[in-house]
Amino acid sequence: MSNAEQPILMARGIYKTYRLGKVSVPVLRGVDVTVPEASFLAILGASGSGKSTLMHLFGGLDRPDRGVPGAAGDAAKTGQVLFRGTDIATFSAAQADTYRRQSVGFVFQFYHLLPELTVVENVIIAAMIRHGRFGYPAADVDKRARELLTTFGLGHRLGHKPAELSGGERQRVAIARALINEPPVLLADEPTGNLDRVTGGQILDQLEEYRRAKRLTLVMVTHDQEIAARADAVIRLVDGKVVGQMPAAALAGG
Ligand SMILES: Nc1ncnc2c1ncn2[C@@H]1O[C@H](COP(=O)(O)OP(=O)(O)OP(=O)(O)O)[C@@H](O)[C@H]1O
Ligand SMILES: [Mg+2]
Repeated sequence: MSNAEQPILMARGIYKTYRLGKVSVPVLRGVDVTVPEASFLAILGASGSGKSTLMHLFGGLDRPDRGVPGAAGDAAKTGQVLFRGTDIATFSAAQADTYRRQSVGFVFQFYHLLPELTVVENVIIAAMIRHGRFGYPAADVDKRARELLTTFGLGHRLGHKPAELSGGERQRVAIARALINEPPVLLADEPTGNLDRVTGGQILDQLEEYRRAKRLTLVMVTHDQEIAARADAVIRLVDGKVVGQMPAAALAGG
């Protein structure tokens, strides 16, 4: 199978346990997920079921359990995150950096914008972090940031500070920031969890339009069945495992 035909992201047999002193909290216990290129996967699950943990693993912000060879039971288990067929744990430090900056974009429930910077500067800074000192033309980045913000309906707010924006507007800035480097994958952890239904719905409409145009792969955590029903596929985390990976249509009526 060529790389082009690989699912863009896969979780394979993932175990993740948090250890706090002597207490270990098993969170993920053999999670398998396949995310085809350009698809929209929704992740459902109760609070504490490990949704954010799984997103962090997908994004390379954390690693699965080490899996001690020969250990008893779950302690031997580990698991992999594959990006286009390659286990991200095998990346060199430089490749891992590139993966986190360019291959995946992150959006969180709380927007994490820099309060001193304007809307357009908040987006530009993500591009500067990617390109560092290698002289990516500033005028280009500025133009792309403005275009992206305009796509998300913020063309009239470019010079505002985050404190002067509504929650929905702030989240649109966070989305533009996550997309400025044109990552093939967007990981969104309850991006509309703090917004009213109408505002959240509008943002999802804009994101869907962008996603289709750019063939973006979207993995979104949500508590909201209505949002999940818009996805191509839905998984639910229960007791550390994935219960079914089903087409979102299966949610209708359930
Ligand atoms: N860094 C950590 N150290 C210890 N335990 C953690 C850590 N992060 C998460 N946990 C625990 O792991 C479990 C899963 O957490 P996680 O944040 O992945 O859940 P979630 O499904 O995203 O929940 P929510 O819907 O509330 O956001 C929880 O019991 C949590 O307390
Ligand atoms: Mg969470």
